[in-house]
Amino acid sequence: MNRVYIKTYGCQMNERDSEAVASLLRARGYAIVEEAEADIILLNTCAVRDLAEQKAIGKAAHLNKRKRHQPKLVVGILGCMAQNRGTDLLDRLPDLDLLIGTQKFHRVPDHLDNLLATFRGEGPRPATVVDLDPEAGSQNEIRGHDSPGEEAQISAYVSIMQGCNMHCTFCIVPKTRGEERSRPIDDILREAEELVAHGTREITLLGQIVTSYGRREFPMVDGKTPFVQLLEKLHALPQLHRIRFTSPHPSGFKSDLIAAYRDLPKLGEYVHLPVQSGSDRILRAMNRPYTRDVYLRLIECLREAQPKLWISTDIIVGFPGETDEDFAATRDLFTTVGFDMAYLFKYSTRTGTPAAEMPDQVPAEVAEARHTELIALLEKRSMARHQELVGTTLEVLAQETARRPAGRLQGRTRGYRKVFFDAPARLLGELVDVRITSATVAALNGEVVTSA
Ligand code: 5AD
Repeated sequence: MNRVYIKTYGCQMNERDSEAVASLLRARGYAIVEEAEADIILLNTCAVRDLAEQKAIGKAAHLNKRKRHQPKLVVGILGCMAQNRGTDLLDRLPDLDLLIGTQKFHRVPDHLDNLLATFRGEGPRPATVVDLDPEAGSQNEIRGHDSPGEEAQISAYVSIMQGCNMHCTFCIVPKTRGEERSRPIDDILREAEELVAHGTREITLLGQIVTSYGRREFPMVDGKTPFVQLLEKLHALPQLHRIRFTSPHPSGFKSDLIAAYRDLPKLGEYVHLPVQSGSDRILRAMNRPYTRDVYLRLIECLREAQPKLWISTDIIVGFPGETDEDFAATRDLFTTVGFDMAYLFKYSTRTGTPAAEMPDQVPAEVAEARHTELIALLEKRSMARHQELVGTTLEVLAQETARRPAGRLQGRTRGYRKVFFDAPARLLGELVDVRITSATVAALNGEVVTSA
């Protein structure tokens, strides 16, 4: 049997794509295995920052060397870096067997079948299979899930759209993922219903800009965007406990989505709202179509709709031209909002983006210092917020068995805080009341009060 290992770099969208590829491969008779047992290794790659690309290139180069001892080994690069760099990658990696773009994940089984029909480790290696073109309707192909066996997939990802039309000047995603394309609401609902029937209790909707879901394909209904229509329909599924989504854009939070935080309890008490910078000057240079004040007002409206909201964000430090003053504005916004969690990035130049051509690139040590400063602020804030929870009782969705010690479960609060607690495995998938007994920066510990 052909044994495949898929290594995923980057975001949840990539994880979901890998899962869909794995599901297609299984249906085609391939086995999904650990790396050491594999004779086919696929790297599903990320292009958002240089480090992610370097890691994947290093890994692929290492694997190509392994072919000397394991001549049958097949190595492929899938996804965002394949799309971003195209056949230029073959200069660095001439022995690569497959190079498959982001609109071609569903073609992987065919490409592998064809390759293996002619190549069994003997004779010359066939030329690299390259498939990078856009494909109409490819967004509809990311729908297969690992067949739920004993272990139900309590929390599942569902891809709802692909691509992004926003063109933030730092971002490579419009190139790697293409134009915005959305799946029909009914297809998504069917997938969700099937997941729920097999034990899924939380669904995370995925897309590069989920708040733009369907805006070009589907009409508004009762003044509501297609994204909110989708949220409402999912909310009506009786056994689904929670709905999450990522990544949104602040500009997509119109009154209907804000009201959803008041009206749809399954959205919980958590929102991820990437701000990127607290300086209006830098926001403009980033082509982010909001100001600091508009963003702050949005936070206020969301907190009005859902007073217990936990808020996380993405911030880039060291964007070209970012002065001490600009950074001070970001630091100030950071404490003004009181972000509970944040993904903090140092700007990484992406060839082909407008920001790569901008003057006044910020020296690495300056970006490093700003990054360190925000991390310290974040840790202080997260710790304080977690400490406040000690002694309170929170509703936790029991999601998986913790790695250790045995008998521990792991779940998330309505505010998306990670909680560890002792409980029998039969509570997996249930909403459990947990009294918080201690806290760290990253997680909470607690004990079960009642069980549903
Ligand atoms: N450099 C650093 N961070 C970036 N991001 C996107 N592009 C870059 C870049 N060139 C960050 C943004 C985005 C997150 C997914 O990655 O903060 O929200």
